[in-house]
Amino acid sequence: MKDKPLAGRTAIVTGAAQGIGAACAQALAAAGAAVVVADLNGDAAQQTAASIAAATGASAFAAAVDVADAAQCRALIDDAASRHNGVDILVNCAAVVAMKPALDLTLDDWQRIFSVGVYGAFACAQAFARQVVARHGNGAIVNISSITAHHSAHGRTAYAASKAALDSMTRSLALEWAEHRIRVNAVAPSHTATDRLKQAIQAGQLEYDTIVQRIPLGRFAEPAEIADAVVFLASDQARFITGQVLAVDGGYTANGGWLPMKTGMERG
Ligand SMILES: NC(=O)c1ccc[n+]([C@@H]2O[C@H](COP(=O)([O-])OP(=O)(O)OC[C@H]3O[C@@H](n4cnc5c(N)ncnc54)[C@H](O)[C@@H]3O)[C@@H](O)[C@H]2O)c1
Repeated sequence: MKDKPLAGRTAIVTGAAQGIGAACAQALAAAGAAVVVADLNGDAAQQTAASIAAATGASAFAAAVDVADAAQCRALIDDAASRHNGVDILVNCAAVVAMKPALDLTLDDWQRIFSVGVYGAFACAQAFARQVVARHGNGAIVNISSITAHHSAHGRTAYAASKAALDSMTRSLALEWAEHRIRVNAVAPSHTATDRLKQAIQAGQLEYDTIVQRIPLGRFAEPAEIADAVVFLASDQARFITGQVLAVDGGYTANGGWLPMKTGMERG
């Protein structure tokens, strides 16, 4: 890949104040893109944008936005498009989780998770696609999904369903917008060592040793490893890839959970 494969492009990352979103914004900037760090937490977004600009020398702006509000999504895209002469890349990373037993899940939980993670991603994607179409440009959207979309986990019924919806939406939009030269893909991480996840382990909410036994590569992902896949899908290196969900999971989803084969079972 070229040193700065995204030079001259502009990228918006939602949910980018921290965690995987911040790593994506940082990696896109390092690849040469001007980035907009969009997040509900405007102060944290400002800090992240400042540290990305200092580390990469790229242009990095912050935007306070609630992606559950379509009008705010439109304003986010339109503002960035007018400032940068169009937006070329959108990474939909903002999401919320409610870790609750299904017996306790409420309609409010479902609505919040779907409003942010599915409708918010759609509202940003639609506003993004409209400005790409209007300027006859090219576009790449990368949605941040999760392996939980297809590999169930306790306490995540609504969250997993929202990620399955996001995967489905990724394929539908890829199909509809191919004629407008907009590619739409997703990255599905497994457990990723964000500060939030590290805190959950320290608090005893997750057992690292038990989880990594299930991961062939034997560890959690680093946020930068998810971001590398996002940069690839956003770049011209992936110019013939659309409608795909790429698991970045250390082999988690390839593991059928079979016991290791005992030696001596080989057939001649
Ligand atoms: N960390 C993991 O192990 C993991 C694994 C698989 C998938 N994911 C997915 O990766 C993405 C990022 O996860 P993370 O662990 O870095 O999350 P995180 O909770 O650390 O960060 C999420 C960010 O989204 C922002 N946000 C929340 N609601 C918003 C809204 N309405 N509008 C705008 N911004 C909003 C938050 O302020 C926060 O900065 C999510 O889509 C998540 O589902 C994470």
